[in-house]
Parts: sequence; C-alpha cells; structure tokens
Amino acid sequence: MSLSFAVLASGRGSNLEALLEGVHRRPDVPAELVGVVSDRPDARALAVARAANVSAACIDRRRFEDRAAFEAVLAATLEGLGADLLVLAGFMRVLSTAFVRRFAPTMINVHPSLLPDFPGLDTHARVLARGDTESGASVHQVTPEVDGGPVIAQVVVAVEAGDDAATLAARVLRGEHLIYPEVVRWLADGRLVLSPAGPRLDGRPLPPRGRRFRLTNDTLEASCTD
Ligand code: GRF
Repeated sequence: MSLSFAVLASGRGSNLEALLEGVHRRPDVPAELVGVVSDRPDARALAVARAANVSAACIDRRRFEDRAAFEAVLAATLEGLGADLLVLAGFMRVLSTAFVRRFAPTMINVHPSLLPDFPGLDTHARVLARGDTESGASVHQVTPEVDGGPVIAQVVVAVEAGDDAATLAARVLRGEHLIYPEVVRWLADGRLVLSPAGPRLDGRPLPPRGRRFRLTNDTLEASCTD
C-alpha cells in the first residue's frame, strides 16, 4: 500500500520540491503527495504544488480571528486530504497542543540546526556567533514542544571559514533536501515507524540525535561516529 502524505508550507517551497523529486515522482517509492496547504496566499510552495498537479490550498491565517479558528479549518482541510503523514516544510506557525495531538505521532518537521541545539529562529547566525565548526539540519517527530520532538535523522555540514548566515544556510538547506526525502522514503518502505513512544528504524529505537549523515561532495554519507 502506498503512503499518502500532505505538506504544510509557508514560503519558498524548496523542501517541497525535493520531496516531489525524491519521493512523489519516483516510481520506485510507494508514496504519494496528496496535497499542499499553506497559511499564506503568496507562498511560492502553492505554485510549486500546482505546477506539479498536486492539490494546493491556502488557508490565510489573517482571515481568522484567532489561532483556534484557523486551526479548525486547517485540520478539517488536512483530514479531507486523508493523508497518512503530515510533513511540515517551512511552515512558519506554531501549532497548538490540541492540533499537534490530533495529528501526532505521524507528523514530521525539518529544522535547520543540529537539535537539541538551536531550536527556534535565526539558527545560522546563532551557530556562527557561538563559533561552532559544524551545523546541519534535523528531521524530527512533531510534539507540542516547538522543535522538541524526537529526532529521526540529522545531516551534519561543516561551517567554513568566511561563512556568513546566508552561505551556511545554503549548505544546510542542501542537506535538508537530501535527508527529508530520505526519511519519507524510509516511511514509505515501512522501515521507519512513528509511534507515541518515538521513532523506530529497522525495528530499533533511534539514538537521541537520530540516524546521522554528513554532507560530503553534495551527497549524504553515513556518519561513522554514530
Ligand atoms: C527550511 O530552512 C526549513 O529547515 C525551515 O524552513 C525552511 C523552509 O524552506 N523549517 P523551504 O520553504 O522548504 O525552501
């Protein structure tokens, strides 16, 4: 049976493009993107979805009086799509505990840092300010704690001399584009199972920082330190 997934996105949609390419359009991967939902009418992700003949819906947050009213319509829209999995890809709204409980444990997010370091915004500037030599991205299960759910996979990238937030962001984003489809492929293949107790890969619980990769020569390399 094929895994159906929906993507929630607020902006550029480059992770959505990576998921279209690395999952949805791949005949060898039993997974189908059934819809993209955005909270912003100007999100490029909506155009990306339409160009790929995927259903695209905008639920404009500004048209709702409060978060509860917005989330009620968002949840109904997502339930209408009937997806097995919700994939947050640059969705810039904090979701309420009630909403998360409704869709957990099969909701995942990608975050541009090596969690649990640097949850929240402006991760690259904070990595550079601390003088770290490595950064990366994490794919994690979504729980009510923002960027706090169990980590499934991480990609580590080097911080290079002369990096600024933009150059580091671009390198980390390339890593995101590789690990996010990889994680969805694991789910499609039944290798990864998400439960309230956390993720299990190939029948085993994952370590606290998940399965680790390194971005080397523009490819994912299994990290031998983990
Ligand atoms: C990515 O950096 C992701 O880690 C963060 O939001 C950004 C989304 O980028 N959650 P895009 O819309 O997928 O291009």
